[in-house]
Amino acid sequence: MESTRIEGTVNDWASRSFRALLVVERYGIDFHDQGTRSFDEVCREKGLDPAAVSAEIDSVAQPRLPVPIDENISLRDLIQHINARHHEYLKLELPRLRARLDRMAMRHPDRDGALLPRLREVFVEIQADLELHLHKEEDILFPSIGRMERAVANGNPLPPSPFGSVRNPIGMMEHEHTRVEELLKSMRTVARDYVAPEYACANFRAVFNTLKELEADLHEHIRVENDILHRRAAELEG
Ligand SMILES: [Fe+2]
Ligand SMILES: [Fe+2]
Repeated sequence: MESTRIEGTVNDWASRSFRALLVVERYGIDFHDQGTRSFDEVCREKGLDPAAVSAEIDSVAQPRLPVPIDENISLRDLIQHINARHHEYLKLELPRLRARLDRMAMRHPDRDGALLPRLREVFVEIQADLELHLHKEEDILFPSIGRMERAVANGNPLPPSPFGSVRNPIGMMEHEHTRVEELLKSMRTVARDYVAPEYACANFRAVFNTLKELEADLHEHIRVENDILHRRAAELEG
């Protein structure tokens, strides 16, 4: 029996996110030359079941909805949540976004007022800042908050720390958060609010969609750290 017809172009399906693009690439679907054609037709011509391929894309390209945090969560669990949801996400997406942007900027250095090289430039700065920032959190701030929480739970005095009050590293992290927020704003301006230009191929659209997703993720990440983790860690100190 014929499976139901899947609506949309190859571009529509491939550009939903990076993860969608990777599925399309894996099946050898050519989004460069066939991007504006019907996804359904192109799949059938390749002997693929469009319903199965689109279901696979659906399963990987779900939008990342914000996760509500229980106000009473232990700081240890909150740190685990931040690591699993936000840090792991960045470690996966930053390098592969960078690789795509490098290639795109090199291929189209002058197109559209050097849009891609300018975009790449801001992205490189965000990536460099974040990679260092994640290290500081994972190696210094998070373990120290964990030790403070354990000490308080056991009724022990707070352990001595090399940086004095926990408010010191917190202040530094929040300063870095502000810097990242500024860079995200610049990136959004360069990318014209992530509305892909008419000429953009699926690869380009996927990058734009993923940058927009990354921006939303970072806003959520920073909010959780500033408003919950940092505030409660400072309260432990009294
Ligand atoms: Fe973080
Ligand atoms: Fe942070």
